[in-house]
Amino acid sequence: MKENYALSTEKLNEIRASVDIVDVISEYLPLTGRGQNFFGVCPFHDDHSPSMSVNRERQIYKCFSCGAGGNVFTFIRDYENISFLQAVQKVATKTGILLHLANGSEQTIQKRSQYHEMYAIACKLYTNNLYTEEGLEAIDYLERRQITKEARKEFEIGLSLKNSHLLTGLLTKKGFTKEEMVQNGLALSKEGELRDSYFNRIMFPLFDLMGKPVGFSARIYRSNDASKYVNTKETEFFKKGELLYHYHKAKNIARMKEQVILVEGFMDVIRLFTVGIENVVASMGTAVTKEQLILLKKMGKEIILLFDGDEAGRHAAYKTSSDLMKMGVYPKIIVLEDDLDPDEYILKYGKEKIEYKIAHPMNTIDFKLEYLKENKNFSSPLDKANYISSVIEELNQITDPILRETTLLKISEETALDASIIRSQLVDLKDVVREETVSTPKPIKSLKMNRYQEAERRLIFYMLNHAEVIDLYKQKVKFLSTEKYRLLAKEINYFYEEHGYMKEADFINVLLEDTDLLNTFHEITSLSLKDTYKKEEMEEYIDTIYEYKIVKQIDYLKSEQKKIIDQEKKKALGDEILELQIELQKRKVWEEL
Ligand code: CTP
Ligand code: MN
Repeated sequence: MKENYALSTEKLNEIRASVDIVDVISEYLPLTGRGQNFFGVCPFHDDHSPSMSVNRERQIYKCFSCGAGGNVFTFIRDYENISFLQAVQKVATKTGILLHLANGSEQTIQKRSQYHEMYAIACKLYTNNLYTEEGLEAIDYLERRQITKEARKEFEIGLSLKNSHLLTGLLTKKGFTKEEMVQNGLALSKEGELRDSYFNRIMFPLFDLMGKPVGFSARIYRSNDASKYVNTKETEFFKKGELLYHYHKAKNIARMKEQVILVEGFMDVIRLFTVGIENVVASMGTAVTKEQLILLKKMGKEIILLFDGDEAGRHAAYKTSSDLMKMGVYPKIIVLEDDLDPDEYILKYGKEKIEYKIAHPMNTIDFKLEYLKENKNFSSPLDKANYISSVIEELNQITDPILRETTLLKISEETALDASIIRSQLVDLKDVVREETVSTPKPIKSLKMNRYQEAERRLIFYMLNHAEVIDLYKQKVKFLSTEKYRLLAKEINYFYEEHGYMKEADFINVLLEDTDLLNTFHEITSLSLKDTYKKEEMEEYIDTIYEYKIVKQIDYLKSEQKKIIDQEKKKALGDEILELQIELQKRKVWEEL
């Protein structure tokens, strides 16, 4: 048995069995149903209809549209974007089971919790500092920027004082070493002297996806002669490009509103919050990373890009729309006038204006065409040609045939260029392969199956939840001709021997790191078969599988026979083949009776 996690399988299964998957998933999304089968809208792909089923008896979920499936751990892992181990811990905490983790992972978990502890201490110190004498000027600054008390609390805004030994002093008192402070980005060591990484700045804590502080963005507030922001260096536990500012709080509101707004700066998030718009996150920099886009896609059906109104912001919106389109998402875009960023825009024009903008965003295509048209003069043939060639690239990105055609007609009209000429420049839609993202599981293809393989996978389907079927397999089958099914059956047997029971919700844990096995597992659990089985059905499958073995054996012997020169041996093989063929024939006749 493969041991994928430092956690023992027994412990894992105990934790898994301590909760009911129906209750846990209900905390994330509404489920309807009664008895054993519940249904909800799958959170792992863009959907409106309840394509996800949650089975109480089997303790698994399965989406019949996108193929996502698994147990309570994989659900939490994928929904919250956390590691498997973190998901296990979440469930364990729910039911009060203590985890004793083995060496390697215990060490990282310890390191991680130490990291969080240090950042929590720093965060507290900084927020308290606001209420010291030095804090008066900082509060004054915040108030001038109209950052309300409520917003200060929501975003845990703080202050690092002029004295650059406060945090290091405090952490030393609490028993943290110099190395730990430096490694975690909270202190600098210069010529042996330890100093806080931040001083004399307004502190904006950055939280991870779970809402724990993992870094800071520190802004100057008194003078203008230093760099505006100083950010925490990337550490093992802090990767800015994998976070979105305010994600942990915005995600629930975004899901409820089915809409998420992406801005560039965290000041913009804070400003929108102060006017009551809370389904907002920030990328905190110019280039939005793929990780951030994947997060965003999970947050809400509608994505609105609300970037700065300057050329850099519009360019970023253009680039981000293209990236999202490659992921099959067409975002909406809001363009702000006067080169303003959302913070400045709201301060200048007020709440109603931005609310109106949010209610009337541009669609992706219109925005992109507008953007490409900027500074182009259609009476110049060169400008026009440039525009058309970039627009053709855009059209090639559009996979929806109707949208493609309507856009094409629009371009034809505005450029006075014949539609058929533009059309002749396009790549055939059939050849456009949409880039799959890691977050979207591939749809289940209807696989071409021969009846033998169908029998194999049906047998495995029942082995997954019925120990008696595994016993049957051991007595009467022992071997499956199709390799991937054979390997999975072998794992099932291992699991059963080791644990004395079989339950797919637990079994899945041992497959998580083996993509091939996991895919086969998903293929089989996606079969729409009844949970209960009849003995005769199993016997029929076993017979069919046996037949398949004979067919395969005949194939094998025939190919061997071709290679052999020795006539004696060739004949012996021929006899063997004949015998098998007769057996097969007999079975067929039997079947037909
Ligand atoms: N940023 C950064 N480091 C910088 C500049 C910017 O990390 N030196 C990130 C910050 O997350 C910032 C975002 O990029 O929120 C957008 O930058 P910018 O527009 O310059 O900042 P504002 O949000 O407008 O901040 P302020 O209004 O305080 O000037
Ligand atoms: Mn700003």
